[in-house]
Amino acid sequence: MSSTAHMHGGIGESIKRKEDGRFLRGKGSYLDDHVLPNMLHMAILRSPYAHARIRSIDVKAASAKPGVVAVVTGELMAQHKLAWMPTLSGDTQAVLATDKVRFQGQEVAAVLAETKYQAEDALASIEVDYEVLPAVISPDGAKAEGASLIRDDKDGQKDNHIYHWESGDKATTQAAFAKAHKVVRLHTFYPRCHPAPLETCGCIADVNGATGKATIYMTSQAPHAIRTVFALVTGLPEQNIRIISPDLGGGFGNKVPVYPGYVVATAASLLLGRPVKWIEDRSENLISTGFARDFHMTGDLAVDEHGKMLALRVHLDSDNGAFFADAQPSKFKAGLFHIVTGSYDIPTAHVTADGYYTNKAPGGVAYRCSFRVTEASYLIERLVTNAAIELGIDQAEFRKQNFIQPEQFPYHSATGWVYDSGDYPKAMDVALDQLGYAELKKDVEARRKKGEVTGIGIASFTEVVGAGHGAEFDILGLRMFDSAELRVHPTGKAILRMGTKSQGQGHETTFAQIVAEELGIPAQDVAVEEGDTDTAPYGLGTYASRSTPVAGAATAMVARQLREKARKLAAHLLEADEEDLVWERGKFYVKGSPERSKTIQEAAFAAYTNLPEGMQAGLEGVHYYDPPNMTYPFGTYAVVVDVDKGTGQVKVKRMVAVDDCGVRINPMIVEGQIHGGLAEGYGIAFMQLITFDEEGNCIGSNFMDYLIPGSWETPKFELGETSTPSPHHPLGAKGVGESPTVGSPAAYVNAVIDALSPYGITNIDMPVTSDKVWAALRSKGVTE
Ligand code: CDP
Repeated sequence: MSSTAHMHGGIGESIKRKEDGRFLRGKGSYLDDHVLPNMLHMAILRSPYAHARIRSIDVKAASAKPGVVAVVTGELMAQHKLAWMPTLSGDTQAVLATDKVRFQGQEVAAVLAETKYQAEDALASIEVDYEVLPAVISPDGAKAEGASLIRDDKDGQKDNHIYHWESGDKATTQAAFAKAHKVVRLHTFYPRCHPAPLETCGCIADVNGATGKATIYMTSQAPHAIRTVFALVTGLPEQNIRIISPDLGGGFGNKVPVYPGYVVATAASLLLGRPVKWIEDRSENLISTGFARDFHMTGDLAVDEHGKMLALRVHLDSDNGAFFADAQPSKFKAGLFHIVTGSYDIPTAHVTADGYYTNKAPGGVAYRCSFRVTEASYLIERLVTNAAIELGIDQAEFRKQNFIQPEQFPYHSATGWVYDSGDYPKAMDVALDQLGYAELKKDVEARRKKGEVTGIGIASFTEVVGAGHGAEFDILGLRMFDSAELRVHPTGKAILRMGTKSQGQGHETTFAQIVAEELGIPAQDVAVEEGDTDTAPYGLGTYASRSTPVAGAATAMVARQLREKARKLAAHLLEADEEDLVWERGKFYVKGSPERSKTIQEAAFAAYTNLPEGMQAGLEGVHYYDPPNMTYPFGTYAVVVDVDKGTGQVKVKRMVAVDDCGVRINPMIVEGQIHGGLAEGYGIAFMQLITFDEEGNCIGSNFMDYLIPGSWETPKFELGETSTPSPHHPLGAKGVGESPTVGSPAAYVNAVIDALSPYGITNIDMPVTSDKVWAALRSKGVTE
């Protein structure tokens, strides 16, 4: 029994995670733990080239290999109208290539064999004759005169341009720029990186020819939406498709899209009448599934002579890879990037964005981020620090001078957002106090005089999480609501089923805590189940920190609904008027007579045994919650670095992170989320890059080249907190899982740039590796 088992487990209690009992004992049930009788294994042949025409594919030798049952090509898929599939951004994507390959690692053929080894071995015997074509590896390359046309499969597609998209007001922004005292420009690149969950993506498709039922175990963060997409793509009736998303070993956005492997495995199971398992290896995951970022951004900030921000102009070139498969709300071509004015009261802004096809893997997933807010936050926070340095104003002071003030909420931003609540100066003050900013600044000055390279970086981010409002936010037309179904058993224990899907965030604990708070049943007595489309109510899933803002709200609402029925039951048991009953967490008592009371458990028992005349039996309900607005968590992060002039090595000496996510349901889990995100932010800022050579070969396709921060590299984190509740969320809670990945990269890089600013260095793109820092210093004549 855990040491917190005795606790009630309501909101604000740091109870231990219920799910850890099985995870820590190695008893989690991940996809690869599942073995079905008579199961085949599938391996995928991937393109060695970034861009090549397929002249022919010969599968004869591979088909004759030991244990091989079938080899599937695009041609076979095409016979079943499954060679192409729709993407989450309304484009098409090849399932198995028929005409051309368009990125290195693209799916070309699949082998089905009795064992995984036999399937993998047979791949080498498939002969593909390729005619190699020039590769396009950047938006600039995509725009260049004479660039290869990547998507010649699309009618009317004459170049590599995907979309143009704008937000804000061009005319008022231009007018404000014309009056500016100073304009500060930053051109920066947020590089391609990868969510790289420890468990890669995979599925087991089990199509039963006798019943027509397709049961698909899948590493999916959004099983319900996937079921609908599968029904639409394959034509299978939706009630015959059951997606089961078992325990997930991380997701971070990587497990949102539909991948070709899922479709091929399902088609193969349908054709062969046997279950088919497919699971990627690490390199397959890194080269072919949902990358993140890859945004080339230019920001101009106009300020007046007092340092007041007047206007923001931003242009973005987005590198979307070979298929436009970004996982984001349908309406927004560049995700939620237009939240780019951040925490600042900027009267007018204009954002333009262009998307381009390149010969790189598709994806554009929201890697621990709410649909591109990470890139937006990075740009504005880097730009603000650069502007402060250029203007000679302290970067904390410059931010404070331009913050949206607490009394301005709800705040209407220049690009159309309505921020729900915030107190940015307070979060800043807590961070600066914790850091000892005034003293630290003196120390930095003194050490710089001695020739040392040292600096402080600040980022005061605003996040936008909890999609939707459904009328504005949808994925392929599915409105972004979420759901909770609560059933209280006669003994007063309960099961809560949700449309979300935890990937390690602790939902089994925190959602039980919401029930504990609202209905008074201890959290230990509430089982939480997610991820089975046959049993859970429909929901859009877990990504973009939407679980607490949306499904958490649904849980509170359904618990309140049941409390009202329990009130009637208690009134019946107490022979009192329900209006005379007072609710105190866990029981009802008669006003003025606290000894006359009935517990929630007694009311639950009565729901099945002793009902008032005319009342339906049972104590259960479901709530579909469509949020009226997004929630806007925020915070201030501050980083102190030392830079070694001789080697360019950066040492993070301190990292203070003050987060405000409104009401915290489980403070310990929230802190765990923040620690994890700060570590990932550190990896992005200093270590990670998925890059490509000129031929489009992916460099960074294994953990030797693509570095994951471990305890050795990761700095110590000093956390702080403020709490500004969301006014529209039933519990006042905002999402938090992504804030640290969104906010921290700019803080880390700002610290390096602050340290290098005395030498006139204004930018180093991530990852800020020692060779880049070394070269930047040398370019300014620093040789020591
Ligand atoms: O959608 P996802 O679960 O990734 O993100 P989230 O809603 O930010 O929640 C991450 C974890 O932190 C969940 O277990 C939440 O319930 C918990 N959390 C919390 O305890 N209090 C908050 N205000 C926000 C999140």
